[in-house]
Amino acid sequence: MKETIRTLVEAYGPSGNEERVREIIMGMVREMCDSVRVDTLGNLIAFRRASRPATGRPAPTKIMLAAHMDEIGIIVTHIDEKGFMRFSNVGYVDPFTALGQRVVFGNERAGVIWMEKLEKMKDLRLDKMFVDVGQGAAGDGSGVSVGDVAAFDRKMTEMGNRLTAKAMDDRIGCAILVETLRRLRESPNDLYFVFTVQEELGARGAVTSAFGICPDVGIAVDVTPTGDTPKAAISDVSLGKGAAIKVKDSYLVAHPAVRNLLVSAAESAGIPFQMEVLERGGTDAGPIHTTREGVPSGVISVPTRYIHTPCETVDLGDVEACVRLLEKVLSNEVSV
Ligand code: CO
Ligand code: ZN
Repeated sequence: MKETIRTLVEAYGPSGNEERVREIIMGMVREMCDSVRVDTLGNLIAFRRASRPATGRPAPTKIMLAAHMDEIGIIVTHIDEKGFMRFSNVGYVDPFTALGQRVVFGNERAGVIWMEKLEKMKDLRLDKMFVDVGQGAAGDGSGVSVGDVAAFDRKMTEMGNRLTAKAMDDRIGCAILVETLRRLRESPNDLYFVFTVQEELGARGAVTSAFGICPDVGIAVDVTPTGDTPKAAISDVSLGKGAAIKVKDSYLVAHPAVRNLLVSAAESAGIPFQMEVLERGGTDAGPIHTTREGVPSGVISVPTRYIHTPCETVDLGDVEACVRLLEKVLSNEVSV
């Protein structure tokens, strides 16, 4: 599974530019599903039919699982006469974590991010910063234009049982869905594994895919911050303590039936878990749960340090707990 994670996090795919990630995931899941399609906005929808008829109900429960393919990035807004590029953010990019980073554009041109001279470091904002793509020597066309998008350029590396990389948010969720498909032998539910686009811009892919699928139950798999680093913002979630089951974030109160489904599955299978209350932020489950007349929804969260930086860090034990939890939930008949 580590190699699956590596392949996914190292791929280029800022919001709106998910094609390469989608091709990789398509190659991983096609053989394991009854059908795979890409919808109008670019979501990848992998469907696996229920392995037996439902008991006491007309049709199997339709479960939508969602993980987003996109990552944060930057977009060129202006190029000056010397070739320095001003940029804006694609998704939330913190100026302090972007400073001094290496980025890569869709055409594989590298760039580095630096800043104007400032009186005070706390005045650092993205509009005081620029990308240097090495342009300057005559005839050195970078091939980068206004509107082009770059992502952080960073390889994954291991720190003991922990993995650190850019784009763990949310390729780790994509990897968990792929691994669940690999391990899941049978499910009495109709399963829609949805790899969504543009979550970092407001969960836009989840809006349209949930409307199209019209699921009975929604479960998103995404990262959540931890409170276990020196003087961190308060959060009860820690790295290494298992899968996090969401209670609430800014866009969702997890449906009690889905929350209980996840908690009781974790308890019965002896899977380590922790409860998560996130004060700011959301996931694809936000728009899923308000689709049409409402869809009972919840979230399995992967505890992650340093979210939205090039060194997002997860614990392999937590990742394994998330896969086991999802596998356990899906292998039983779900009725919510
Ligand atoms: Co994010
Ligand atoms: Zn995310």
